[in-house]
Amino acid sequence: MRQDLIVILDLGSTENTVLAREIRSLGVYSEIHPHDITAEELRGFKNVRGVILNGGENRVVDGQAVEIRKELYELGYPMISIDYPQSKCETRFDKLPDQETLKQFVFGACRAEANWNMKNFIEDQVELIRKQVGDKKVLLALSGGVDSSVVAAMLIKAIGQQLTCVHVNHGLMRKNESESVVQVFRDELHANLVYVDASERFLGKLENVADPEQKRKIIGSEFIRVFEEEARKLEGIDFLGQGTIYPDIIESGTKTAKMVKSHHNVGGLPEDLKFELVEPLKQLFKDEVRACGVELGLPHDMVYRQPFPGPGLGVRCLGAITRDRLEAVRESDAILREEFAKAGLDKKVWQYFTVVPDFKSVGMKNNARVFEYMVIIRAINTIDAMTATVEKVDWDVLEKITNRILAEVGNVNRVCYDMSPKPPATIEFE
Ligand code: XMP
Repeated sequence: MRQDLIVILDLGSTENTVLAREIRSLGVYSEIHPHDITAEELRGFKNVRGVILNGGENRVVDGQAVEIRKELYELGYPMISIDYPQSKCETRFDKLPDQETLKQFVFGACRAEANWNMKNFIEDQVELIRKQVGDKKVLLALSGGVDSSVVAAMLIKAIGQQLTCVHVNHGLMRKNESESVVQVFRDELHANLVYVDASERFLGKLENVADPEQKRKIIGSEFIRVFEEEARKLEGIDFLGQGTIYPDIIESGTKTAKMVKSHHNVGGLPEDLKFELVEPLKQLFKDEVRACGVELGLPHDMVYRQPFPGPGLGVRCLGAITRDRLEAVRESDAILREEFAKAGLDKKVWQYFTVVPDFKSVGMKNNARVFEYMVIIRAINTIDAMTATVEKVDWDVLEKITNRILAEVGNVNRVCYDMSPKPPATIEFE
């Protein structure tokens, strides 16, 4: 390994990730581990330069104080503690120390080197992947989202043709999205890419299904089914690549975390399709994943794209999906994205998209009464998607988008702008 490591032990702090990011921002790699780690496990990590015992408000679990194993104090690593009254460290802090103090600990007491950067990270991962995989084959579900794209690029670099990517087009992708996945990965990066156009199959299953949860379930389970069918066609695959990232792991539960969220990746594969996982991004935060993608040579648009829900345009074509409304969502979304990019808003706004409800309203076209659909534009800003505010889009930009949608998108006679923050509204409509 090329990187020095500062280990953070989670003793009930809610600021573990803040601290990890703070240390990484100094150019030193940092990882969060559970408080009950053994001395042997800790010694097993490469290049440990120091340990931080990070306590906090969750340091009492079920009436019992959380403590580290006493043997850890004997290992001789430079150690400090934060908000941890039972600490036996010489240097203790009541709260997160400022950056200067952290710097002194990391570079002074720990003598860590600022050698954490994407180049080193990628070289380390390439080495680890080759060691893990050997001459075996890896399968990857490549959705075209940031995480799966970066994993794909990393695996291509590490093992080239031993990787097979499967891209399932569920028919709910944005305009030109699947085409761009094929172009980047098959044509430019020369990946082994299986492209499955399952649009008809998905749309068939979704016919007349109006309930949002039911729609999500169908899309999710059908996705696994299609992927499984493709996996069965391929022979001699032992590994499954996965775009798990650090927040997925942390949120799935360090031992003192209160909020436990299961992450939704390609779980649910049948028992007889047994794969070992390859997860080269599992230590990265989202912005680091993007930086890694850039370093691996992926196009800027792919790496900096806005979040897009797994069920795709399916949750933006409200109620039972019909082909004409799905087309209206896709075309209006493409116009919105084009105009936001022209106005420089693509770099400013966190998420923006269009929605088409399942009802019509009266309008006038060519002096005749029409009864057509409505497009709703949504543009929001947020830090963590838990709450969101509405972007104050310039009136001229909104007017231009409106006029283009009315002129270019079929079956639409009305455009609205959604002014609702989250809460009480959610970001998506379904
Ligand atoms: P809501 O609508 O809950 O959305 O305010 C919060 C964020 O999550 C995204 N989202 C999803 N992402 N699968 C995903 O991968 C989903 O089923 C899903 N539903 C919502 C949404 O786009 C927003 O960024």
